[in-house]
Amino acid sequence: MNLACSNRSRVGFFMVLAFALAPAALHTAGSASQEPKPKPAVVPQYNDRGELKRPTDYRTWVFVGTSIGLRYRQDVSDGTTRQGDGHKPAKLGDFHNVYINPPAYEHYVKTGKFPEKTMLVLDIYKAEAREPKGIVSGGLFSGEQLRIEVAVKNRARPDGSKTDWAYYDFPPGRPTARAFPDKTCYECHRAHAADDKVWVQFYPTLRPHMKHRDK
Ligand code: HEC
Repeated sequence: MNLACSNRSRVGFFMVLAFALAPAALHTAGSASQEPKPKPAVVPQYNDRGELKRPTDYRTWVFVGTSIGLRYRQDVSDGTTRQGDGHKPAKLGDFHNVYINPPAYEHYVKTGKFPEKTMLVLDIYKAEAREPKGIVSGGLFSGEQLRIEVAVKNRARPDGSKTDWAYYDFPPGRPTARAFPDKTCYECHRAHAADDKVWVQFYPTLRPHMKHRDK
């Protein structure tokens, strides 16, 4: 403190200091018992049949991007494109919100590579234009949740496959899912996604960290 300052302002200073510190001290004292336990690292969980368990708290992961109404060319996966299953958009188009598990995100930012146990969740919503209060006069929002789809990088899958990435589908209420055959999902991702079977070209959170591009 400046020596030239008056006693009055010094008193004022200490009062301000006391007020500033009091809540911090209270907070520290109170928080010891309430401190949430650190969460275990987010990794894929499987049942004893090697099926993936539905990820539950993915909405707290890192959000990598959204798209609406993306349609894929039918000729891109040499005729093996899914018909009717998977995340084929409806006519208007669905919202596709994509999340990545935080450890994989941090690794990608540092190295430009997706580590083992990377999980990406595609959270799909019906695009809706009306809500009950009638406040919306234009545009679309994420309405009813349709399903989630999950991509997992794991070379030691408990179902015995050695393919590096596996793809799963969880309609509402499905607790576990078996991986799709490679030709249903993997092949299109392998042939056309920008980096290591992930569509980084569509994800603004990951794009700046892409170190090389496969396609
Ligand atoms: C014809 C190409 C094609 C096929 C086949 C395909 N996908 Fe995708 N997938 C995409 C594209 C394009 C995206 C990126 C953007 C989007 O749709 O939101 C994507 C994104 C994803 C994502 C988000 C993470 C990522 O990898 O970028 C998941 C999860 C996913 N697909 C699961 C599946 C599943 C499950 C199947 C099989 C049932 C499947 N995909 C089949 C083209 C395909």
